[in-house]
Amino acid sequence: MAVILLRLLFITICLPFIAAQQSNDSVPVGASLTATPNIRPWLSSSGEFAFGFQQVQGNDNFLLSIWYDKIPEKTIIWYPEEGRMVPRGSKVELLRESGLVLTDPQGTQVWRSGSISGVASGFMNDTGNFMIFGSNSSKIWSSFDYPADTLLPTQVILRGGMIISKRSKTNFSGGRFLFQLLEDGNLVLNTRDIPTGNVYDAYYSSDTFDSSNSTNRGEQVIFDTTGYMYLLRRNGQTFTLTPRGLLPSGDYYYRATLDSDGVFRQYYYPKNPTGNSSWEVIWFKPDNICFSMSGVRDSGACGFNSVCSFDGNWPSCECPQGFSLLDPNDPNGDCKPDFTPTCDEVDSNNAGDMFDFIELNGINWPQSDYVHMKPTNEESCKSSCSKDCFCAVAIYANAQCWKKRFPLSNGRKETSPPAKAFVKFQKGDPRPGTPSQLPAKNKDQKSLILVVSTLFGTSAFVNIILIGVICVGFFVIYKKKARNIYPISKSNIETNLAHFTYQDLVEATDGFKDELGKGAFGVVYKGVIGKQIVAVKKLNGLVQDGEKEFKTEVDVIARTHHKNLVQLLGYCDEGEQRLLIYEYMSNGTLAMFLFGETRPTWKHRSYIALGVAKGLAYLHEECSIQIIHCDIKPQNILLDEYHNAKISDFGLAKLLMMDQSHTNTGIRGTKGYVAPEWFRNMPVTVKVDVYSFGVLLLEIISCRKSLVFERDNEGVAVLTDLAWDYYQGGRLDAFVENDSEALDDYKRLTWFVMVGLWCIQENSTLRPTMRKVVQMLEGGIEVAEPPCPCPFSITTCKL
Ligand SMILES: *[C@@H]1O[C@H](CO)[C@@H](O)[C@H](O)[C@H]1NC(C)=O
Ligand SMILES: *[C@@H]1O[C@H](CO)[C@@H](O)[C@H](O)[C@H]1NC(C)=O
Ligand SMILES: *[C@@H]1O[C@H](CO)[C@@H](O)[C@H](O)[C@H]1NC(C)=O
Ligand SMILES: *[C@@H]1O[C@H](CO)[C@@H](O)[C@H](O)[C@H]1NC(C)=O
Ligand SMILES: *[C@@H]1O[C@H](CO)[C@@H](O)[C@H](O)[C@H]1NC(C)=O
Ligand SMILES: *[C@@H]1O[C@H](CO)[C@@H](O)[C@H](O)[C@H]1NC(C)=O
Repeated sequence: MAVILLRLLFITICLPFIAAQQSNDSVPVGASLTATPNIRPWLSSSGEFAFGFQQVQGNDNFLLSIWYDKIPEKTIIWYPEEGRMVPRGSKVELLRESGLVLTDPQGTQVWRSGSISGVASGFMNDTGNFMIFGSNSSKIWSSFDYPADTLLPTQVILRGGMIISKRSKTNFSGGRFLFQLLEDGNLVLNTRDIPTGNVYDAYYSSDTFDSSNSTNRGEQVIFDTTGYMYLLRRNGQTFTLTPRGLLPSGDYYYRATLDSDGVFRQYYYPKNPTGNSSWEVIWFKPDNICFSMSGVRDSGACGFNSVCSFDGNWPSCECPQGFSLLDPNDPNGDCKPDFTPTCDEVDSNNAGDMFDFIELNGINWPQSDYVHMKPTNEESCKSSCSKDCFCAVAIYANAQCWKKRFPLSNGRKETSPPAKAFVKFQKGDPRPGTPSQLPAKNKDQKSLILVVSTLFGTSAFVNIILIGVICVGFFVIYKKKARNIYPISKSNIETNLAHFTYQDLVEATDGFKDELGKGAFGVVYKGVIGKQIVAVKKLNGLVQDGEKEFKTEVDVIARTHHKNLVQLLGYCDEGEQRLLIYEYMSNGTLAMFLFGETRPTWKHRSYIALGVAKGLAYLHEECSIQIIHCDIKPQNILLDEYHNAKISDFGLAKLLMMDQSHTNTGIRGTKGYVAPEWFRNMPVTVKVDVYSFGVLLLEIISCRKSLVFERDNEGVAVLTDLAWDYYQGGRLDAFVENDSEALDDYKRLTWFVMVGLWCIQENSTLRPTMRKVVQMLEGGIEVAEPPCPCPFSITTCKL
């Protein structure tokens, strides 16, 4: 009896769970899914692919999609045409007479799977293909036949087929780029004008076309089960897409995606991922998208007025100085001038008094010129532009001058010939390049709920900081990580780094007379080379590992180009002497700015915080070699004449490292900013910079130093603790010392503090990446409630 009872109990309680554990790849007619978080999707039999709703960008945006369910990133590989987001409560249903139907909570149809009927069942295939079968078991619809931006093994594109990029990384509506197998057999990448659908010329072409019906024209793009992609010609010959021998051996997922930057890339990801697995690139087309669109009528790889740069792997778009993004959420989009372009009546005699120029080095917009003058000189090039009301920008290179009109297209970094771009603006306008408005946060933001929780562990944290004060050494960690297995040709990446003799620099600095500052790496002097003011850094404590090593590292630094990084201009390695020449930053360090006599405005401060975050995100994710800074603090952030924040001293780590074979041999960094993992036997990753950035962000927000010496209780208050105290007590007004400008912008203030608290989490895996930090600071993604940044264990360090 008891046994029977037990059995009954087992059946009633456990069976439903067992059933729920099993995946059922077959979807009966009438089945439906509702868009709510954590709803169980329809899984393929191996559980590798899932069909359902993914929450994208905030809580209330759901995307009907198919994704890799077994990898942490849940990469989305399919979504219906146009990638429309639907709100919570929307529903997808498999209906006998209409196939898949997506409806919003009001019951309005948003999308359906074409005009099909007579549906018998649906099926989530282990290949990632969602299929619909008719009553005679024949396939009547499949997601593979309606690809989004991604192709998978076993998928085929026929003539006339295409895939479309996403608008941006987080916006799934159709973007500017198309991958098409044209009717004539040619495989091309095109741009298009989104509103009109007008397609421009190709920026990549396989040239496998033949209009005369010949047998070697392209017929199908095939992604085979082993991971190779190729173009099958009519006569059975193949045109290789995946280069032979490039696929890694082992068990991998493969996908090929037309990314939102316009590059078509094939990726792989291990089926048995380790902690640090990510999608790695096998090959991509075109080779350098910044240079591949010259003949194409459109804005180029980036938006209008934007500038494209390519580090050998990833292109990036950036608004030049004096411009800012038209849509702050679209970093690859158009840039608008921060000044008002005018075409007023110009009195040619005093045009020079009316206009001024922003000088941009190494940037060109090779199209959009309407006048070409040669030979000429720089002065007459500029003056001709001032007097010409149409002229927006003059490019001067090699004794030639090109006058250009807005909007500028195909902007890119060009070092040979060394072009100079002069952007014209009217004097009296606010000086372009000064803090531009920060993007506005979505109005429909939910109000933030401040959770009051107990603060604990303060003293342990103080301990750790104090230990840091003593333990700090000048050791260095440098982690080198090749991003990509694709062999990158070095010649892609040109550096126009100048080499100087020691005597040159003695002259430039007038015998090292004017000292600008001292740092861990050496002393910095002011100097003048040509007409340019420079900062000359004399390195000390260098490892004697030969000139070649030095040059290699210097090249790595020189290859970084970002608005928020101090640009390296040249170097000297003569005998024992190692010097680096940087651009000069006229407004000194962020420390002077923040903790000086007058409190800088909130607008300036938030602009600077965003700039530092962008610079770090670039070092972490966009350079061909990842650079961990290891010593982010206000003394290492410099400000240019427009108060743009620029990170300095990055990439020097390796030059000072004693023993490269050790990773975590000592602490590098500065008290108050070093992440807890330095004190523990834990690997040092980019997250140490995120930690230091978090401290810096809280300093920028509050204008308080990371270690605040309090008069009354003779102790040291740690800013990170203060921030948490004030935040969880709802006292941000006190945290910013009643800074009325910041309090007027209370929402942004709150989310900035929250981002800061996320960055200083003890557990480094909880800290966001710098890319995410940028998105959060920009208001592009919502910031979740941060947990207490308290230590989770107390390490004792007997001294
Ligand atoms: C999946 O569900 C269908 C219909 O409900 C059922 O016929 C089939 O046996 C199930 N398969 C598995 C593996 O559970
Ligand atoms: C799943 O896809 C594979 C490969 O295309 C195919 O062979 C198989 O028949 C599909 N499964 C079903 C049930 O259609
Ligand atoms: C199955 O039905 C579809 C239409 O419902 C038809 O086009 C197809 O030819 C049929 N296939 C077979 C094998 O009967
Ligand atoms: C995606 O971009 C389009 C065009 O810029 C915009 O209309 C749409 O609102 C965006 N969608 C989301 C979810 O941000
Ligand atoms: C193209 O070639 C196919 C097969 O050789 C032939 O059947 C067809 O008539 C040809 N079409 C034209 C327009 O030449
Ligand atoms: C991941 O970590 C392992 C061991 O920590 C290392 O061998 C491997 O190179 C790392 N992989 C990547 C892609 O960084």
